[in-house]
Amino acid sequence: MKNIAALILSSALVLSTPALAAGDVQAGEKVYKRLCSGCHQIGESARAFFGPQLNGVIGRQSAVTTDYVYSDAMKSANLVWNRETLIAYLEAPKKVVPGTRMIFWGLSDPEKIEDLLAYLQTFPAQGLRSTVRALPGP
Ligand code: HEC
Repeated sequence: MKNIAALILSSALVLSTPALAAGDVQAGEKVYKRLCSGCHQIGESARAFFGPQLNGVIGRQSAVTTDYVYSDAMKSANLVWNRETLIAYLEAPKKVVPGTRMIFWGLSDPEKIEDLLAYLQTFPAQGLRSTVRALPGP
């Protein structure tokens, strides 16, 4: 009985401990292709599709790609897409941006999220000035 309790306790710990290792880019590509690529483009020639292109999305301000018409909800969300906001948005898009047009059932498997973030991180925003609005200026 004791052993079973210990087993349950240790597996609960494993499940609740966030993955410390960085995600696996290749596994992340698979997650992206399966869950995101139906609506988003990423890479050299990425442009607005059903959703905005995702180059350099980690660290990017919300609603700044110029070739995509965002929902009013996203336009006024005023978020920076970082680890925390992305994880929360992918888990429950409408909780983070009520009224968002992104219809997504949610991704909450921490390992898949880590892998996906690692994959997204391999696409920098550099060289995409034509499709990403410059930071506020004159
Ligand atoms: C059914 C289509 C669909 C799927 C699947 C989808 N998205 Fe989206 N996504 C959208 C749409 C549409 C928007 C624009 C939302 C708005 O304007 O409210 C969006 C917006 C976003 C944004 C905000 C971008 C910005 O420029 O502010 C991020 C980040 C994002 N999606 C990431 C993802 C990721 C990562 C996945 C896969 C795990 C995914 N999405 C899956 C349709 C989708």
